[in-house]
Amino acid sequence: MQIVFSTAVDGSPITAVPVAKNGLERAAWGNVDESGQAVIAAAARAARFEGEAGSIVDVFLAGATPRQILLLGVGAGDEDGWAKAGGALTAKLLTSGATDVSVDLTATPDTPSAAAVARFAATATQRAWRFDQYRTKLPENSKPTLERITIAGAPDGTDAAWGAQSAVTDGMALTRTLVSEPPNILYPETFVEQVLASVEGLGIEATVLDEAAMRELGMGALLGVSQGSAREGRLLALRWNGAGEGDPVTALVGKGVTFDTGGISIKPAAGMEDMKWDMGGAGAVAGTMKALALRKAKANVVGVMGLVENMPDGNATRPGDVLTSMSGQTIEVLNTDAEGRLVLADAVTWVQRTHKPTTIVDLATLTGAMIVALGNENGGLFSNDDGLAEQLIAAGLASDDKLWRFPLSATYDKMIDSPIADMKNIGGKGAGSITAAQFIGRFIEEGVKWAHLDIAGMVWSDKPGTHHDKGATGYGVRLLDRFVSENLEG
Ligand code: BES
Ligand code: MN
Ligand code: ZN
Repeated sequence: MQIVFSTAVDGSPITAVPVAKNGLERAAWGNVDESGQAVIAAAARAARFEGEAGSIVDVFLAGATPRQILLLGVGAGDEDGWAKAGGALTAKLLTSGATDVSVDLTATPDTPSAAAVARFAATATQRAWRFDQYRTKLPENSKPTLERITIAGAPDGTDAAWGAQSAVTDGMALTRTLVSEPPNILYPETFVEQVLASVEGLGIEATVLDEAAMRELGMGALLGVSQGSAREGRLLALRWNGAGEGDPVTALVGKGVTFDTGGISIKPAAGMEDMKWDMGGAGAVAGTMKALALRKAKANVVGVMGLVENMPDGNATRPGDVLTSMSGQTIEVLNTDAEGRLVLADAVTWVQRTHKPTTIVDLATLTGAMIVALGNENGGLFSNDDGLAEQLIAAGLASDDKLWRFPLSATYDKMIDSPIADMKNIGGKGAGSITAAQFIGRFIEEGVKWAHLDIAGMVWSDKPGTHHDKGATGYGVRLLDRFVSENLEG
């Protein structure tokens, strides 16, 4: 879908007229004549339309141009309200048969900010994303038709703001594709191929480690997960050097389990197909790196993705096995389904040794317990640094990829002590998401600021939302892009 900016409304047959909360009497109406206005006002009353963000009243005017008017609620008129409106507009028109819609910003008395218009355009574009690759029989009337949204009368500065939002939108599309691909198509090697193809030419430096290289480095934790699979594991690192050479490096580290059967501690059959998106953390890291490179972010960021498939097999890790991680610390594996933390342990060790980051943010679909606690509204945040935690929470609120913080402490940490090794890979009965975080924390070196985001409930959605349809949400890309732009640049 294409976003076009114009100074005046074109002759498009469909025009959206933005209306703020309780702002209908103040609407300037743009191209709509008086009799049209009367019809629309009556329709708005009948629909009890009050300009609530994302609400729409659809009115057809016989013989007039425009012949179809959409009153489009923008709520408080802030970024959030405009974003909701953009998503709702696309949801309404995407498969309607219409190819074009004009959005008349001159028809609103309160001109939105450039940032709000950019969010409107971004959310509208994000809501149009679909994954139809494997459908050969989609009925004609279910196919997307909307090609263009023309925004008339955007304020100065919208071009630059939209440039950045468009980069985020493209990055998010990569994340969603990776998350949606079936696990026979997307496995560690093909994950690497797809990502490298998608970021080619953007100035990103890539490093790929195969299993032989990882064995050489002693990555026994990650390889212990991978060894039951016929597919080889990979570690993919993407580095974006947007700031000076001596400037600090921030690492983003993602769990990339391309399919999680649970291994020998096998999962129940029902719903196991969901575990194709157990690489959502790595997917978010890939999408964020693409967004940062596309908008040439002025920050040094390295994105690391630990990629494995967790399968039961004659060669798979057994409950009771002890693995030696790259850090030298030993791990008693008591449940092979607690595999994400094993992958992350070696990925964070590798990035600390190789790139010396001052800050690490890891993202992982790590625990079912996170979904029990937070549902699908917030990702879980765990951090050893209050300042970093606050920055991430603020970025989450601003970008609408929300986070909620949980505690870490020595007493939780003790719950993963093992009688025969340095630690075990599961805790006790309670606090499953926290003990998982404590586990990763044991691989963070002194003085490094670290945050762990458990995004188990955020990667996939069973129902459509503001900026996504059912399916992959692209969670994490908007969040991390905001985090970088507000805290690491300038
Ligand atoms: N990938 C799962 C967590 C998960 C479950 C994410 C459901 C999204 C939806 C993870 O590898 C896992 O299996 N975790 C176990 C940990 C347990 C064995 C300590 C879990 O949450 O049950
Ligand atoms: Mn698992
Ligand atoms: Zn998993």
